[in-house]
Amino acid sequence: MHLIAYVNGKFQSLHNAMIHIEDRGFQFADGVYEVVACYQDNFIEMGAHLQRLEQSCQKINIELPASLCEIRNLIERAYRFNRIPNAMIYVQVTRGMAPRTHAYPETIQPSLIITVRPLPEVSQEKLAVGYRAITLEDIRWKHCDIKSIALLPSIMGKHEAQSRGADECFWVDEEKHVLEGSSTNIFAIKGSEDLAEIFKSNKKEQTHILLTHPLGSRILGGITRDLVIRSARKLGMTIEERPWSLEENGITECFVSSTTNAAMPVYSVDDNSVGTGKPGPVTTQIRQLVLNEFYA
Ligand code: PDD
Repeated sequence: MHLIAYVNGKFQSLHNAMIHIEDRGFQFADGVYEVVACYQDNFIEMGAHLQRLEQSCQKINIELPASLCEIRNLIERAYRFNRIPNAMIYVQVTRGMAPRTHAYPETIQPSLIITVRPLPEVSQEKLAVGYRAITLEDIRWKHCDIKSIALLPSIMGKHEAQSRGADECFWVDEEKHVLEGSSTNIFAIKGSEDLAEIFKSNKKEQTHILLTHPLGSRILGGITRDLVIRSARKLGMTIEERPWSLEENGITECFVSSTTNAAMPVYSVDDNSVGTGKPGPVTTQIRQLVLNEFYA
């Protein structure tokens, strides 16, 4: 069966239909879709599907690359070109192509893809017995420990942060515990002594504590997070991997970590200064140790 697809302005053989590897649909699952059924020229609830497509786009701040009327027309043409009487038509809209970074540029041209396939046929035998089902706990959007390409929530968080003049968002749980950032792990430091002084005096004990959320399904186990913990141990700090919140007493510094940031100080959260409101000495030391590992 020779199938025809529509990709960004062109109908072409499905075999040759391509999307750029820097399309954010591929890089981040940064896009939305609809599946419309068509039985013998009869498009089922086309209006409702188009309306939901428009709403989905609005919710993630993608401007539809064509009017709903034009998209309807393209869907009808794709159906006719493919000559499949009972068809399902996939309509995908992604944010478009840009060099990979969570924050997306304001001027980006969304991608529009339409493909047509035969509707799966249900056999009489299956219909006679019906389906068999199981129950599962709803895990959707809940497996932050998997470094999945499906980063749409992270994209939404980064965009919200940037639109409010911030560099990163901190995801917090129902009890305001700090989990992780949109693309970073998060740490706090408690304790008031100057680390440089501790080193100079060669004092074994010191009071600095490194706080970070424990591993589990609510955060990604960052490779840099491990480097940070190892570095903090070298500095003789106490590591506490436990739920913590920004309201906790005694927090003097805060920083984020990732492959692309090493350890990056955070001076303000929700317009409240952290500690002195400047990158702190402990963060600076940890950053240096992490960078030493990077450049080793
Ligand atoms: N992001 N948490 C999240 C949600 C992340 O996306 C990342 C990394 C991290 C830190 O992991 P690591 O230290 O292994 O880089 C934590 C990468 C840098 C990205 O998506 O660009």
